Amino acid sequence: MVFYFTGTGNSLYAAKYLDEERISIPQAIRRENPVFRAESIGVVCPVYGHEMPSMVKDFLRKAEFRTGYFYLILTYGRIHGGAAELAESFLGSCGKKADYINTIMMVDNFLPGFDMNEQIAINPEKRVEKHMVSIKMDIDGRKRYKQPVSEEDRDWHQAFLDRTAGTLVKKPLYYVTDECIGCEICTRVCPAGCIRLEGRKAVNTEENCQMCMACIHHCPEKAIKLTIPEKNPDARYHNEYISLTEIVEANNQRTE
Ligand SMILES: Cc1cc2nc3c(=O)[nH]c(=O)nc-3n(C[C@H](O)[C@H](O)[C@H](O)COP(=O)(O)O)c2cc1C
Ligand code: SF4
Ligand code: SF4
Repeated sequence: MVFYFTGTGNSLYAAKYLDEERISIPQAIRRENPVFRAESIGVVCPVYGHEMPSMVKDFLRKAEFRTGYFYLILTYGRIHGGAAELAESFLGSCGKKADYINTIMMVDNFLPGFDMNEQIAINPEKRVEKHMVSIKMDIDGRKRYKQPVSEEDRDWHQAFLDRTAGTLVKKPLYYVTDECIGCEICTRVCPAGCIRLEGRKAVNTEENCQMCMACIHHCPEKAIKLTIPEKNPDARYHNEYISLTEIVEANNQRTE
């Protein structure tokens, strides 16, 4: 059994490789009694500012895992900043412990930092599949391991905290342009359910926004923009092996 959180599909791609029984965290977090039993249970999610998304943390606080083997896989784009150690420490704060924590470097979907076309072009160098094969072998063999973290990794995280005081981006983070055609895709890919249509135009309330950027990356008209400079406002990304339908199934919070 593997739980996953994804904005642009990288973490779902990894989760699909690791286990056939997959459960989306934005759906699972709504369960009344989140107690899960399986021989092996994993969580796969991206890192934001080297840490897990707030919804994943909320889920980890709430859920009870009855399992003989618990693992965490963190996807990231360029600098993990000691994500394994930060995740281990977070788990400790809610009375949980992982047998295995590792990271996988994939396309970096952080629009203020990266041009998505360049990210896609350099993706083969990251050898994603090779790393996934090795992580799957570890997990299937029930290996106990935490990715080592260096002083340099910790310095990256400290520099990030000093620079941002832990707040990645200030709100409002997005605006919707007149290019919006009211297709409602953004309202369905949002794991926090914070976008709605007013008239024929999307409005992002950013309430409980996870900053996953799914809304921006999946908008067919590129009508959602950041209020801070983007490296390339015309380039967007989604994992090539994950369909829009899968992202909607994972994240949709609409009931009708
Ligand atoms: C708000 C935000 C913050 C991010 N912070 C980091 C980071 O600190 N380090 C990093 O290497 N990648 C960072 N990324 C990149 C993602 O972790 C990476 O692209 C991840 O694989 C996306 O997973 P997904 O496709 O499942 O959403 C960030 C992305 C976003 C949207
Ligand atoms: S996905 Fe884009 S075009 Fe569609 S409703 Fe949202 S902002 Fe408008
Ligand atoms: S508003 Fe956009 S960035 Fe925020 S949680 Fe929803 S999809 Fe993700």
